[in-house]
Amino acid sequence: MEEQISVLISEEDVDKRIEELAAQISEDYRGRQIHLICVLKGGAPFMIELSKRLTVPVSMDYMAVSSYGSSTKSSGVVRIVKDLDESIKDRDVLIVEDIVDSGRTLKYLMELLSAREPRSLKLCTLLDKPDGRMVDVEADYSCFEIPDKFVVGYGLDYDQKYRNLPYVGVLSFVEN
Ligand code: IMP
Ligand code: MG
Repeated sequence: MEEQISVLISEEDVDKRIEELAAQISEDYRGRQIHLICVLKGGAPFMIELSKRLTVPVSMDYMAVSSYGSSTKSSGVVRIVKDLDESIKDRDVLIVEDIVDSGRTLKYLMELLSAREPRSLKLCTLLDKPDGRMVDVEADYSCFEIPDKFVVGYGLDYDQKYRNLPYVGVLSFVEN
């Protein structure tokens, strides 16, 4: 089987939308410092691009959780692979994710982090797949809603590949 990728959201459209969202977030957090938490690995390209366009003071930390094997279906099992380096107590925390699909990863993360008593805790995602939702999670900020297709690029992988693509594409498998 050969892997094929067709462009769903172009590089130009992603960049433009991130710019818009960054302006909105900067406005909403005016006078405060945002503590960005990147959910590795997929959230990294989005967080970097978003952070460059924020006009309020920003600090960053990284967390890695795993909820996926190498397949294209969510396992529902979430495990912390790397915890935060710093305390989030009394900070304005914004979680930055690549995608909310079933919502299991984010539900788990939001509960875990809210127990650490941040001043505020919000969720920002590049992509939202509402049709995949299995648990009740809503992003405070989302760049794009997408259909229930398996996508790669802009941080999203298939078997650890394609995270570096500067656009979002739908992955399909064709017989060769
Ligand atoms: P959830 O727990 O089902 O919401 O899925 C969370 C994680 O599954 C995301 O952070 C991604 O790493 C992965 N994931 C979900 N949908 C896709 C997709 O379409 N392409 C690549 N990874 C995905
Ligand atoms: Mg992810």
